[in-house]
Amino acid sequence: MKDAAPQPIYLADYTPPAYLIDGVELDFQLHPTATRVISRIRFTPNAAATSKDFFLHGEGLTLIRASVDGRDITPELVDGGLKADVPDAPFLWEAEVEISPEANTALEGLYMSNGMYCTQCEAEGFRRITYYPDRPDVMAPFKVRIDGDELVMLSNGNPVASGDGWAEWDDPWPKPAYLFALVAGNLVARDDSFTTMSGKEVDLKLWVRPGDEGKTAFGMQALKDSMKWDEEVYGREYDLDIFQIVAVSDFNMGAMENKGLNIFNTSAVLASPETSTDANFERIEAIIAHEYFHNWTGNRITCRDWFQLSLKEGLTVFRDQQFSGDMRSEAVCRINDVSALRGRQFREDNGPLAHQVQPDSFVEINNFYTATIYEKGAELIRMMKVLVGDDAYDKALELYFERHDGEAATIEDWVKVFEDSTGRDLTQFRRWYKQAGTPRVAVSEDWTDGTYTLTFKQSTPPTPGQDEKLPQHIPLAVGLLGPNGDEVQPTQILEMTEAEQSFTFEGLAAKPVPSILRHFSAPVILERDSTAQERAFLLAHDTDPFNKWEAGRTLAKDVLVALITEEDAPLDDYLNAIAVMLRDDSLDPAFRALTLGLPSQDDLAQTLFDAGVTPDPMKIYRAQQTLWQAMAEHLQDLLPRLMAEMEVTEPFQPNAEQAGKRALGLGLMNLLNRLDGGAAAQTLYDRADNMTLRLGALGYLLQAQKGDTALSAFRRQFEDDELVMDKWFSMQVYHAAPEDAVDVTDKLTKDTAFNWKNPNRFRAVFGALMTNPAGFHNASGDGYKLFADWLIKLDPVNPQIAARMSSAFETWRRYDVDRQAMMKAQIERVLATEGLSRDSQEMLGRILN
Ligand code: ARG
Ligand code: ZN
Repeated sequence: MKDAAPQPIYLADYTPPAYLIDGVELDFQLHPTATRVISRIRFTPNAAATSKDFFLHGEGLTLIRASVDGRDITPELVDGGLKADVPDAPFLWEAEVEISPEANTALEGLYMSNGMYCTQCEAEGFRRITYYPDRPDVMAPFKVRIDGDELVMLSNGNPVASGDGWAEWDDPWPKPAYLFALVAGNLVARDDSFTTMSGKEVDLKLWVRPGDEGKTAFGMQALKDSMKWDEEVYGREYDLDIFQIVAVSDFNMGAMENKGLNIFNTSAVLASPETSTDANFERIEAIIAHEYFHNWTGNRITCRDWFQLSLKEGLTVFRDQQFSGDMRSEAVCRINDVSALRGRQFREDNGPLAHQVQPDSFVEINNFYTATIYEKGAELIRMMKVLVGDDAYDKALELYFERHDGEAATIEDWVKVFEDSTGRDLTQFRRWYKQAGTPRVAVSEDWTDGTYTLTFKQSTPPTPGQDEKLPQHIPLAVGLLGPNGDEVQPTQILEMTEAEQSFTFEGLAAKPVPSILRHFSAPVILERDSTAQERAFLLAHDTDPFNKWEAGRTLAKDVLVALITEEDAPLDDYLNAIAVMLRDDSLDPAFRALTLGLPSQDDLAQTLFDAGVTPDPMKIYRAQQTLWQAMAEHLQDLLPRLMAEMEVTEPFQPNAEQAGKRALGLGLMNLLNRLDGGAAAQTLYDRADNMTLRLGALGYLLQAQKGDTALSAFRRQFEDDELVMDKWFSMQVYHAAPEDAVDVTDKLTKDTAFNWKNPNRFRAVFGALMTNPAGFHNASGDGYKLFADWLIKLDPVNPQIAARMSSAFETWRRYDVDRQAMMKAQIERVLATEGLSRDSQEMLGRILN
């Protein structure tokens, strides 16, 4: 490492801001390489402050002039900002700086995407626009004037006035700088309006590049649905005259909740049946809701500091999950959310990057926009709701909005609201925010003289910097089934608070079969030895859809693990149970499709590792293939009839019902494909009239090594559509055979269309390699080397994405000594790169230790 190790900052060091702001005026004179930003800021000393030092953040700014109360001053430029002598009374700060949006490849601050100006300020991007106290506990109303030649020039809040070459905006709601936004360029809008619960008319605009107008209808509907839902479920009304969304091609994340002017990655908003899959539609609906919901949980009530990030993100994820559950099938959404949690958050929580939902320190805050902060954070709120009950949850939220509106709050404030409104003591529950790692809950049972006893033991493995773990407060939703499959004990919430705890059930006629952790009532790993017969019984009879699915998943896992470790696999039990499940017309096709899926290769690797077996990526891959082949043969006679039943004859709609049929149809085709060598997939590809079926068919053709013709046709058809071309790239890597995956990836990086500075395109290729573990972990080590080469190349251009993608290496300790050595060597090679970003240094440093 050439540079000095980057210094962490600590939650414990928090102090209130020295100066508060009464109002901000910003003038932008736009120019691709020399934009001028003039700021006029009215500061007031903060009575609650412990210091009077005046410090403004600033990065990569050229200071042209500065003045205090109209008198020119020469501030002292220091690392990360400036210092100046100012009066111990309210004063007016003025400054002019110059920046180059075109040179900004990190996509933080003001940058250009396809000739259009846009911003991303969360978390600390505003300091790349002008000198400012860039911390979320400094909130102010903003007035913005934009001068430039652009057709459309937008900022937060309400439009004031505009003319040829200029526009003015006024945002009356005090906000931290991370919610600032500016957009300017050649854009066209889909217009609509929404009447709020108190009868106020709000203009809605969804801005896109000319040519993309045809992909805006779904996003606009999702926005209106979200506005309505937030009124009906949380009583939250929108608070400006206008709400705008802008789609931009180059964006580091999914989207951003800037006040009144949300900025979206095109992939998170543009949709059409011809270019988007059902999964895309579902994700878009969820992200539009998420960003809109931030208006109250994030903007009106924001975070005091970035250690509180989960205060807004955990709550807003929970709210968007509730919304999706209401718009679609609740059970299917829950299963998908838990699968994503296990795939990303459990992976994080059980490796070197494990961290608290409320961290104590960080080096680079951008590295903490994680599955733990977001998805585990949402699970904690879900648990609180289960513990206090639905009505008490509603009352607590009322109090939260009433007490903290207009404030920059903390997670402690949030928990306190629940305590004050319910009278419950949540002292132990707070541990969920401060203790990293996934608790294991081991279950044993006893049946004596008509009394049934469940005994739970909890423990949480050590995580970096946290060796000792205390017992958590865990809500365990449990129901009991009788031998004939009837429910003899409906769902009951057992509150576990001790390391070991027993619960008894009296008055049962026979020994029941327990259904534990229904609806996934806590983010824990349940350890329960069970027979294949019992799992099949629960798959057939459980009344809780989540646990019904879970029974199928654990049974599949038992089979796969046994195939990998060459033990006796309960293959027949699994095949018969799946056949029964598939034939059950009373089950939602979407549910059947999920139950037909197998645990991912990464999930299996972690499961083996936890069981003390070194995972072999090739063996895992082959076990999956073997099981699919066995399923295909076993279900052979069922496939044609079921596939015919799943055909959608009505015109395409992106709704849950049609999507479920397509999902099951494609799941079945995955099996048929192994029997007919791609014949049915080719037919489907040729007549597909929507992207879901087209892409599904393409995947199966690639799997059958018959994809060449379809790939070229696909490219010809969609060459000009960036988002569809992202799919073209990722499909080839994802479906490549293990021995080809690295070559395929390498070849794609040399394609003329591989615009690697675009985050979506980079992720399309390298994100896909991460989800092809047998390919990435190829014994040659070539996958590691190629990946590291590209991290080194990307880091100086876009450190945020490079750091994020370095999590490809986070599981290195799971594997055999040869792979470990090869991965470690690559991590060290990247770390030794001269000038490596703080972002990547922190991530790779943590991964290594
Ligand atoms: N607050 C945004 C969201 O959750 C995410 C922005 C993250 N940006 C970043 N640079 N880390 O919707
Ligand atoms: Zn968010």
